[in-house]
Amino acid sequence: MPVHGRFHYLEALPKGTSSHARRPRGAAGGLMGTLVLIHGFPLSARMWEPQLELAEQGWRIIAPQLRGFDGSPSPSAATSMDDYAGDIVDLLDGLHVEQAVIGGLSMGGYITFALFRHVPQYFRAMVLADTRAQADLPQALEGRRKMLAAVKEHGVEVVADEMLPKLVSGDTLTNQPEVVDTLRAMMLRNPADVVAGAIVALMTRLDSLPLLPAIHCPTLIVVGDQDALTPPAMSEEMQRSVRGAELVVIPDAGHMSNMEQPAAFNRALAHFLERRV
Ligand code: MLT
Repeated sequence: MPVHGRFHYLEALPKGTSSHARRPRGAAGGLMGTLVLIHGFPLSARMWEPQLELAEQGWRIIAPQLRGFDGSPSPSAATSMDDYAGDIVDLLDGLHVEQAVIGGLSMGGYITFALFRHVPQYFRAMVLADTRAQADLPQALEGRRKMLAAVKEHGVEVVADEMLPKLVSGDTLTNQPEVVDTLRAMMLRNPADVVAGAIVALMTRLDSLPLLPAIHCPTLIVVGDQDALTPPAMSEEMQRSVRGAELVVIPDAGHMSNMEQPAAFNRALAHFLERRV
C-alpha cells in the first residue's frame, strides 16, 4: 500500500500511465482524472479493491486509509468527520491533486459531506454510496453509546459481531461467504481506540440535509436495494435535494453494495464518469 508522509492509501492507475500524466481528457495514455473513494465504518480502504479495475477506464483511483485503520499511523485517534476530512485534504495536497471526483460509502459519505462543507472547490463530481445526509436520531445515539462502551470493554470483535449481519443482504450472508470473511477480517485489523474514535465521530456528525441544495457538481447516488442501514428511501430523499443527482439502485445488494455486487456497482460508476464528468 503506498504511503505519503503519515498517510496510507490504495492506488490504481491505468496501465502505462504515470500519476503525473496531464494529457487532455480522453487522449490516448492520458488520465481522465482522479477518483477518491472513502471507506465506511469500521472497515478499511481495502473495501474498495473491487473498484480498482475502474482505473482501466482512464482514472487514477485513490482510496485513503482513514487515520489508524488497518494499522495506519494514528498520532491521536480521530474523533470527528472533520478530522478525517482534514487528513484527506492533506493527502490530496501532498499528492498535488487539486480537483477530483470524491465519494464514499456510508461513513465515507459523511466524510464526503464534511469535505464539501470545507473545500467544495476540490470537487469535480461527487459519489454518495449507501449513505444518508441526516445526523443520528436519539435512538441511534443510544445504540452508538452501547457500542462505544462495548468496544472499550471487549474490543473490536463485538463490533464485528454486531455489524456483520447488518452490512450485507441475507443472500450475501448465505451465498457469498468470501465477502463476509473479508469484511470480518478488515474489521478485526482495526485497533479498538481507532474504532471508538470513529463511533464518537459518527455520533457527533452534523446534519448534512441543509448542505444538499448547495451541491453544485455532478452527483451519483448508489444504494443496495436491501440496504438495512441506510435504506433506499434515504437515497431517494438525497436525490430530491441535490440538483441533477442520479440515483442507481443496485439489485441483490445490502449496505456493502460495492463488494456484494461489484460488477453492477462498477458499471454504474463507469457510466456516470463517462457521461457526467
Ligand atoms: C458505515 O457503514 O460506515 C456505517 O454503517 C455508518 C453508520 O453506522 O452510520
